[in-house]
Order: sequence, then C-alpha cells, then structure tokens
Amino acid sequence: MSDPSRTLKPPSTDDHFQDKARDPFSSGCAWIHDEFVPISEARIPITDMGFTRSDLTYDVVSVWNGCFFRLDDHLSRLQRGCEKLRLVPPISLDEIRDILITTVALSGLHQAYVEAIVTRGVPEPGVRDPRRVSPQFYAYAIPYVWIASEEDQARGVSLALACDTDRIPARSIDPTVKNFHWGDLTRALFEAYDRGASLPVLTDGTGKITEGPGYNVFAVADGRLYTPATGVLEGITRKSVIELALLNDIEVIVGDVTVELLRVADEIFLTSTAGGVMPASTLDGMPIGTRRPGPVTTWLRDGYWQLHNDKRFALPVDYHRAGAGVRRPVAEQPPRSSDRLHEPPQSGR
Ligand SMILES: Cc1ncc(COP(=O)(O)O)c(C=O)c1O
Repeated sequence: MSDPSRTLKPPSTDDHFQDKARDPFSSGCAWIHDEFVPISEARIPITDMGFTRSDLTYDVVSVWNGCFFRLDDHLSRLQRGCEKLRLVPPISLDEIRDILITTVALSGLHQAYVEAIVTRGVPEPGVRDPRRVSPQFYAYAIPYVWIASEEDQARGVSLALACDTDRIPARSIDPTVKNFHWGDLTRALFEAYDRGASLPVLTDGTGKITEGPGYNVFAVADGRLYTPATGVLEGITRKSVIELALLNDIEVIVGDVTVELLRVADEIFLTSTAGGVMPASTLDGMPIGTRRPGPVTTWLRDGYWQLHNDKRFALPVDYHRAGAGVRRPVAEQPPRSSDRLHEPPQSGR
C-alpha cells in the first residue's frame, strides 16, 4: 500500500514551495529590532505595550505594480497619530520611509500590503507609566490584501447595519488615529456573518453612520456623494475618492450620514487601501439601487485604479536596492509573475 503522507507533500515542481526555499522573503519581509527578517520569523516581545495595552498607532500603505501609492500621505497620517498619542518614534520619518521601501524591495512583491507600526514599547518590569517607556518601530510587507473578494466586488458586497454594537465613542478612542482597538469592529463582523452578510457598517448609536472594519463608507444619492465627517478614520482612499469626485464636479457632502439616508441611497460603496473602492449590493438583505455596482461607484473605482499610474502619487520601488547595505540570506530573485494576484477591477464602462 502506498504511504498516504506522501500525497500530502507538495510536488517537487511546485513553484511556490521552491520559491520559498530559495528565497525566505518571498512570503513577506519584516523589520523588527533593526533587522530585516522573513515574515514567518517576525516576532515582537510579548510585554510590548502595543500588545498588552493596544498602545500604538499604525498605517497601511499599498504597493501596486511595483509602486507605493500615496506613501507620503500615509506617513503624514502616521506622524499625526504618533503626536496625538504622545508617541515619539525611535527613528525619523525619513528613516521609516526608507525601511518601508527596503522591506518591499527585499520581499520582491509588486502588489503588497505594507504596515508600519509605532508601539509604546517594552516597559521595565513593574513600570506602568507610559512616559517611562521607549517606543518601538516595526514594519512588514506581505502580498496585497483584499477586504472583498474579486467575485464580491463584481456583484457588490452584502452589508449589515450592526444593531448590537456601536462604534467606540470618539472621545474614548480617537478614530482618526489608526489603532488596534478592534473589539467593536470584530464584534460587528460576527454580527454581519450571523445575519448572512459579508461586511458590517457601524453607527455611533444615535443613528449616524460611522465606518466598518478597515473601511470608510460612502452613499450616492441624487448624484451627490455623502460620507461621514466624524467618528471615522480619515482614509487615504476616501481622500482619493473625494478628490476625484470634486475634480469632476460631483458634489461631495462630508457631514452626518444617517441610517435613513443609507437605506434610500442609490449606491453605497466602501473604501480602503486593502481593496480600493468596493461596491455594495444589499443592505440588511434589501437591494441597494439596482442591486448591481452603480455607475458612480464603477466610475470612481476605475478612476481610483487609474490614479495608481499618476506620477504625483506613485513612487516606484527600486527592487535592486534590496541588496545594498542589507544582510540577505540569498541572492535577490527577480519578481515572479505569480506576484500579480489581481488586476485592478475593470468596469463595463
Ligand atoms: C477603521 C478604518 N476605517 C477606514 C479605513 C480606510 O483607510 P484607508 O483608505 O487609508 O486605508 C481603515 C483602513 O484600514 C480603517 O482601519
């Protein structure tokens, strides 16, 4: 009888496993304690207050077709977050920028999800005073992450308005500082799954829309765009969409967005670095507009992906610099075609 465990082993011709063996950075690369390490080896100390207290801020920037998108906007937001939390990063913003670029260059990834994190750091035993702790900086690049699958984007995601969970009040946790206080967002995600939807939208508890786990929310009504002004992260994708709309004479109202408005909207879409502009087709099981991605959403989604070629926003990664001044276990591999996980969504327009 043949040994069943043999069939579980990857075939020797499997590119992924061969690539991994050749290049330990091929699944991602992290910067931890002044060293670039393969993502599978990236570890933070368990007593870092970023972990024990969620005392940190972070940012996520994308790399698309080998270029960072709006890197400086993401770095500015990280800096503002640090200031609001009284976190002084251990290195300068220019050094952070350089580390992010090298992390991506080392990974060889041409479509990447790149995270920069500033934590309060590791206290001396018994120290509880955050002023007495030295902040730490960590970063990593992994393959690009999609909040909504390709199929969900094509037909529109199903949304549920969270009934059991409100967004944490902004006076308790400032939502403009990107944070890991995801208790409310995760609880709402479970609520959405329990109700057969794929993603939740949270309110502030008084009937005003806020945001969801990793995305901002837009409604289209009477040809205008509506998005909440407060209680939300000021997303960089949200900013791109607002700029695109204004440039093309679409009115944008950044203000209170009520549950009632969402229920009668012609279109609803979500925005995030992890997936761009994502159309929604149902809200609490009821169709939104025609139940298909609407024309305004589709046009903005196309425009958003086209912006990735705009020299004002696209910073090319120099993949050859990966070898320079950085200890690397093996010689750099050329980028592989398998890095192209997903083309920008195409619309029928
Ligand atoms: C809570 C929250 N809102 C909105 C967003 C969207 O922000 P951006 O477009 O900058 O990715 C994110 C991104 O992760 C987020 O975590």
